[in-house]
Amino acid sequence: MYLNTQIANDIYYVGVNDRIKHKFENMFPLPYGVSYNSYLIVDEKVALIDTVEVSFGDIFIEKIQSQLKDRSIDYLIINHMEPDHSGSITQLRKYYPNVTLVGNKKTLEMVNGYYGLDDNTLEIKDGDTLSLGRHKLTFYLTPMVHWPETMMTYDKTEKVLFSGDAFGCFGTLDGGVLDTEINLDKYWDEMYRYYANIVGKYGSPVQKALQKLTPLDFQTICSTHGPVWTKYASKTIDIYDQLSRYEGKEGVVIVYGSMYGNTEKMAEAVAQGLVQKGIKNVVMHNVAKSDPSFILSDIFKYKGLIIGSPTYTNELHPEIDALIKKIETRQIKDRVFGYFGSFSWAGVVTKRLAEFGEKMNWEVLEDAPEEKMGLKKEKYLACVQIGKKMAERL
Ligand code: FEO
Repeated sequence: MYLNTQIANDIYYVGVNDRIKHKFENMFPLPYGVSYNSYLIVDEKVALIDTVEVSFGDIFIEKIQSQLKDRSIDYLIINHMEPDHSGSITQLRKYYPNVTLVGNKKTLEMVNGYYGLDDNTLEIKDGDTLSLGRHKLTFYLTPMVHWPETMMTYDKTEKVLFSGDAFGCFGTLDGGVLDTEINLDKYWDEMYRYYANIVGKYGSPVQKALQKLTPLDFQTICSTHGPVWTKYASKTIDIYDQLSRYEGKEGVVIVYGSMYGNTEKMAEAVAQGLVQKGIKNVVMHNVAKSDPSFILSDIFKYKGLIIGSPTYTNELHPEIDALIKKIETRQIKDRVFGYFGSFSWAGVVTKRLAEFGEKMNWEVLEDAPEEKMGLKKEKYLACVQIGKKMAERL
């Protein structure tokens, strides 16, 4: 038996918490876990918005049954087909065999592709509506936020937007669901990290989706991950708007690889230069220790990026090389970029990092220091200078 949280008139939260999985998508660490959100609208017709990850199917069904008792589900609205949300469709169909699967053309192709289901479906198009009785739902296709089939569902009656992954974040819901009833501290940083790693490549589709949503008068955002946004709905939209425009705040991320501490000393000198020029938001990451998902999150957050690397087998430090590929994949725009490096007998890293900055079409700071062996006074001061130059450009 479950007491499901009521979100609005006739709308209930029936999602679940995952405190078991170590890494989301087997890639991104989950220090605070993650929730898979699902919502039930109980009207003349009953609609369920999305399901949950397959291993939580039993709890999910129990939560639905606690709410519906002997009633059935008429529609499953599938806003997003990624298996963390579609994974329990098969199980749902076993308990509610008459449920109609509602999605757009791409959704229904995926339902068939993933689960072999092609019966009792309802294909909708952008702007189509579905009446449940008192509640009138409108569907908005928002491709690539974060898969090609993604869409959002708007309940005009209660002014609730079911937004799929958009406006979501990592972090389980520990007893409360609404943003007004829980401490939100952990969720804001986890929203940056979620966006940077999961949605980060799709800035332009997110902007298109935001434009599509602008005319809608919604007061509540029900995402597929994290709290339901009411009081802070506009703040989450502002964060997504800022991130999808790749707009960095004043601050600098210094990422370095260092095998024996020489490149790290250069990084410390760069940080000193930044602070001497008044930059307070300086975040340093040792690439061998920080998980890349946290580094990317900070790179999305701040305008300045400085990377340092030793030469290793005539290339960049391998972890720096891997990070650079992740940045390239996400096509992060409009950053100010500085770099530095060290070597013992053949230096290549400043050349490589300069090429990377140019490829990204960023503003690249000149006179990058590259030290041979241990850090000496001249290059120490040059590193401080790189920090100062960066500060002047922000
Ligand atoms: Fe939470 Fe794109 O799935």
